[in-house]
Amino acid sequence: MPHVQPAAPAPAPPVAAVVVLAAGQGTRMRSSRPKVLHALGGRSMLGHVLAAAAPLGAGATVVVVGSGRDQVEQHLAQIAPTAVPVLQEEQLGSGHAAAVALAAVPDIEGAVLIVNGDSPLLTTRTLDALVAAHDAAGSVFTVLTAEVDDPTGLGRIVRDERGAPQAIIEERDATAEQRAIREVNAGVYVAAAGTLRRVLAGLATDNAQGEQYLTDALAPLVAAGAPTAAVVAEDPDDVLGCNDRRELAARRRTLNDRVLDELMRSGVTVVDPATTWVDVTVSVGPDAVLRPGTQLEGVTSIGAAAEVGPDTTLVDTEVGEGASVVRSHCLGAVIGPESTVGPFSYLRPGTRLAGDAKVGAFVEAKNVEVGEGSKVPHLSYVGDATIGRGANIGAATVFVNYDGVTKHRTTIGDHVRVGSDTMLVAPVTVGDGAYTAAGSVITSDVPPGAMAVARAPQRNVAGWVRRRRSGTPAAEAAAAAESRTAAPREDRSEPSRADSDS
Ligand code: UD1
Ligand code: CA
Repeated sequence: MPHVQPAAPAPAPPVAAVVVLAAGQGTRMRSSRPKVLHALGGRSMLGHVLAAAAPLGAGATVVVVGSGRDQVEQHLAQIAPTAVPVLQEEQLGSGHAAAVALAAVPDIEGAVLIVNGDSPLLTTRTLDALVAAHDAAGSVFTVLTAEVDDPTGLGRIVRDERGAPQAIIEERDATAEQRAIREVNAGVYVAAAGTLRRVLAGLATDNAQGEQYLTDALAPLVAAGAPTAAVVAEDPDDVLGCNDRRELAARRRTLNDRVLDELMRSGVTVVDPATTWVDVTVSVGPDAVLRPGTQLEGVTSIGAAAEVGPDTTLVDTEVGEGASVVRSHCLGAVIGPESTVGPFSYLRPGTRLAGDAKVGAFVEAKNVEVGEGSKVPHLSYVGDATIGRGANIGAATVFVNYDGVTKHRTTIGDHVRVGSDTMLVAPVTVGDGAYTAAGSVITSDVPPGAMAVARAPQRNVAGWVRRRRSGTPAAEAAAAAESRTAAPREDRSEPSRADSDS
C-alpha cells in the first residue's frame, strides 16, 4: 500500500474492540447498493474504515449492519472475514446502533473505538492519536473533531469557556449561534465500554429526527462530572464523511491526491495528477512515469522506470522494470521488463509477457505466455497459447481457440515466424524455427524448421476484365498496361514471400 503513514507520536494502547456503524440506509446516495459498499480508490468505504482501524490491534471488530445487510455481510466475508456482523433490525439511530454492537460483545470492558462506516479518508495515524489522547486524558468518552470551513450538515462541538467539551449538537437541532461553530463531530469516538453501555441505555429520542443519537452520549457524562475529551484531527480531510454522490466524488479526489502525493514523493513522475487515478492497493517503482489518463487499479504494480499511458487502464496487472504500456487496457496481465504494449492493445487475464516482448496495435491477448523477445506486432487475436522465444506473429494472425464447445491450446516454438493472416486452428503446434505462409489456415502440427503452406494456389484468369468489365476505368487501365508490355503476366502457383514482419 503506497499510502504509508508515519508512526503516531505516542504509541496508543490497543483498543478492546472496534465498532463500525454501517446499518444506515444512506438515502442520500439514491442507490440500490448500501452506502458503505460504494467504492473509491480501490476499496469500499467500509473497506477503508476497516483498513485504517486494523493496525490498532482490537480484540474484536464488530460491524453493525441493517440496510442491505446481505450485501454488506457478503462483502465483509470477502474483505474482513474475522469481523463480526451484528444486525440492527431497525435503524433507530447511531446511538441505538452502538448499543446493539456493544450488546454483541458483552464481555468487553476496555476502550472501544466507534467509527461511522462512511468515513473513507480516516487514517491509522489519526485513530492512533485519538486513542492515545483518550488514554492520556483518562477519559471515558472522547470524540474526534475537526475544524472545517463549511460545517453544513454536521454535528457541532459545543465547548465551555475553558474549552472543555459540553455537548454535540446535530445541525437540525442547533440554535443559530451553535450553527456558527466550525468545529464538527467526525463521527469517531473512543469510550469505556461499561460507561458507554449505561449512557446509551438512557438515550432519548427528543430530537429533530426522533432517533437515538450516539452524539447525545457526551452531555450526560459531562453533567455527571465524568472525564471526557474532544480531540481535533490534525488533517480535517481525514474525518470527512460521505453521504451522497457529490461527496463520494470529492472524497475520491482527495484520496487520489494523497496517493499521488505519496508516489511523487517516492520518485514517480505523474505528468497530470488531475487525470491520473491510482488505487491505494497499487505500487509504483521509482522513476516510473504515469502519463495523462492513466488508471491503475487493484493489485497492480509498476516497476521502476516503466512508462504507462497516456490513456491506459491497468487492473491487477504487473508491469516490469523499464516496460512501456501506451493507450491500452490490461486485466490480470503480467508484462515483463523492457516489454512494450500498445498503442491500443487489450490484454486479458492470464496474458504473461516475458522480458523484451512486444504486443502492438489492435492486438487482443488472453491466457497466453509470450516468450522472451517475441512479438505480436499488429491486429491479432492471441488466446490460450504458449509462444516461445524470439518468435514473430505476423499481422492479422488469429489463434482459433474455440470450436464452439471447448477451448483448445496452440503452441508456438522458439524463433517461429507465423505469416500474416494465418489462422492457427487449435489444438495445434508449430515447431521451433518453423514458418507459416501468409494467409494459411494451419490445422495440423508443423514440424520444426518446416514452411507450412495451407492456402489455395492462385489462379490468374487472363483478360477477364477486358471481357467482363469492358468500358470501366479498370478495363482502360488494363488495356493501357497491356499495350506497354509484351504479354499479360504468367500464372503463379508458388507462394510469394511467406511472412510479413514489417
Ligand atoms: C453523524 C453524526 C454527526 C457527525 C457526522 C459525521 C449522529 C447523530 N450524527 O451524522 O454528528 O457530524 O456523522 O460524518 O451520529 N447508522 C447506523 N444505524 C442507524 C443510524 C446510523 O448504523 O440507525 C450509521 C450509518 O450507517 C453511518 C453512521 O451511523 O455510518 C452515521 O449515520 P449518518 O446517518 O450518516 O449520520 P450523519 O447525519 O452523517
Ligand atoms: Ca454520515
